[in-house]
Amino acid sequence: MSTYAFDYAASLHDSELFWAGQAARLTWFREPPRPVLSQDEATGFYRWFRGGQLNTSWLCLDDHVQQGRANQVALIYDSPVTQTVRRYTYGELLDLTARFAGGLRELGVARGDRVIIYMPNMPEAVVAMLACARLGAVHSVVFGGFAPHELAVRIDDARPRVIVCASAGLEIDRVIPYLPLVEAAIGLARHPPAHVVVCQRDFCPADLRQPRDVDFRDLLEAAPVEAVSLEATDPLYILYTSGTTGRPKGVVREHGGHAVALKYSMGAVYGVQPGETFWAASDIGWAVGHSYIVYGPLLHGCTTVLFEGKPVRTPDAGAFWRVVAEHNVRVLFTAPTAIRAIKKEDPAGALARRYELSSLRHLFVAGERCDPATYDWAGQLLGVPVVDHWWQTESGWPMLATLVGYPDMPPPRAGSAGHPVPGYNVQVLDEAGQPVPPGTTGLVAVRLPLPPGCLPTLWHDDERFQSSYLDAFPGYYLSGDGGYQDAEGYCYIMGRVDDVINVAGHRLSTGEMEEILAAHPAVAECAVLGIACSLRGQRPVGLVVLKDGQSLAEEALEQELVQLIRQRIGAVASFRQAAVVARLPKTRSGKILRKTLRQLADGEDFPVPSTIDDPTILDEIRVVLAFRQLGQAFEPPALS
Ligand code: COA
Ligand code: AMP
Repeated sequence: MSTYAFDYAASLHDSELFWAGQAARLTWFREPPRPVLSQDEATGFYRWFRGGQLNTSWLCLDDHVQQGRANQVALIYDSPVTQTVRRYTYGELLDLTARFAGGLRELGVARGDRVIIYMPNMPEAVVAMLACARLGAVHSVVFGGFAPHELAVRIDDARPRVIVCASAGLEIDRVIPYLPLVEAAIGLARHPPAHVVVCQRDFCPADLRQPRDVDFRDLLEAAPVEAVSLEATDPLYILYTSGTTGRPKGVVREHGGHAVALKYSMGAVYGVQPGETFWAASDIGWAVGHSYIVYGPLLHGCTTVLFEGKPVRTPDAGAFWRVVAEHNVRVLFTAPTAIRAIKKEDPAGALARRYELSSLRHLFVAGERCDPATYDWAGQLLGVPVVDHWWQTESGWPMLATLVGYPDMPPPRAGSAGHPVPGYNVQVLDEAGQPVPPGTTGLVAVRLPLPPGCLPTLWHDDERFQSSYLDAFPGYYLSGDGGYQDAEGYCYIMGRVDDVINVAGHRLSTGEMEEILAAHPAVAECAVLGIACSLRGQRPVGLVVLKDGQSLAEEALEQELVQLIRQRIGAVASFRQAAVVARLPKTRSGKILRKTLRQLADGEDFPVPSTIDDPTILDEIRVVLAFRQLGQAFEPPALS
């Protein structure tokens, strides 16, 4: 086993050699020629493993079956909401995938075609993803909590030949029929798919009445097809993520770099061996779900857990501990929000003590900053190291972590997301793009080239890739997060510096919410803030200024605005409050001071910005926030 110090240095000083070595751990249909790193002539963007050929689905399934893992469990579907536990061996998962790929091919899906998958955490969703990869079709999974409008935006950008959906999903307190949502989205879209494949669920089957509708089970009757040999630079998937506007960014992931990076991360970052059980308690609609429910564990020959439920109320705050105990989970990966939700309902950890949790070696958390109180509580409860690690949809795998696979790794620390992962030259920069001294907060950036697995560009939008991430500081990828590195090399990610917020580990755009609120006929202008929330980390609240002459009651307006966000983005936005204010604080050039508003609501000490046009507005807003008890500074103290 190498050391972290050695590999980190090697990955930066001779990244080409380092990643060629990692690539050699995979079975390629055609080995990538050296050098494995190149630049596109037209754009200058970096590409990994050009000229190599492989197939990610083949690596996840066929390769393991050929190496003797056919009877090992590949996937455990544990669904407290449907009261089901089902196991699929590598052999069974391969069979289902090859047949579903055959069915998709009969619908005309070919290499390069896009397929949107709109399903909850269910095995058929994983089969659909792997089947697309098998054919060289590009999947785009859309999180089930998004409303039809969001789905329509993604349909128009990806232009899928087929949409695969479930007939329904189950939330804690309700059944959500999916097909009507898909139909509404297709109605809004300009580029309807040729077919909608529906996976019927017993508790709420859908009526397949359109000529384009196909039953998922019928496609499984098709003859199995072999995996197609693909270029390493062929896209495996597009995953849309929130930017600062209403138009999501289509993050592209390529077969070659993705497979190499995830294979490396399973051992180096998470310290798991093939054959062990890995559980990412996320949703397949997010990057974490793509990388660490589906591809990472399967590329590595692990058993992965697909959990359809919540950390609480399905049926109680012991759900996670039951799954760990029942399935012998070695590594659990979740969001701090989930731990906070469990802690809220079971503060003494009594439910955890009902289970035998000795299989667990590490708890990894990501998606938002893990506050030290949550970090300490989880560590004490479980008696295993808690590892906060930092990454983004764009990277697809961790950029900062405590890599537990290396013997010389400094231990994790509360509040820190650890050290840079090999391949990532993480730097903290000032506004002029110069590295800041240790301990100084700045903009977190990664020196180019990004390692394999990271986005090479945005779907059909090189210009936006360039302007969103690369233009600010030439030679760097700008992450959008602020933070600092201490003198010992530990890094601290303190939050976004743009209009993106993290609500319960879900990435959302306040800019998009503002666009929606501003379209209400009574609203003259508005600001949406991500204010601190003890459960979800952040939650959005709106401050709106009414148009002259508007007489709509504040309560009625608030309800309309809440419904608007729910209809346009979805329930997942957790937008539940809006207050009317007379004016919004702005700079002299007219820019709304959103950061100042958030600091006011959160009760932080802040200097009144020198650029503010009229500081008295802050006092007016303070009165409104106090009256509405909006924000941690103004909420009544919790009863003890
Ligand atoms: N489909 C449809 N609706 C969904 C949904 C889905 N897939 N996911 C969430 N929603 C809905 C919820 O039902 C809820 O609706 P409501 O406003 O009518 O109650 C709303 O979106 C907000 O969802 P959420 O914030 O998840 O609230 P919750 O009360 O259902 O659960 C937690 C709270 C903390 C348990 C939950 O947010 C959680 O488990 N968070 C961890 C997230 C995570 O793992 N993220 C992955 C990143 S690594
Ligand atoms: P997503 O693209 O949905 O994975 O969200 C990425 C964003 O989540 C990052 O830009 C951060 O703002 C935040 N994030 C993810 N992991 C962490 C972490 N460990 N600590 C702090 N913020 C995090």
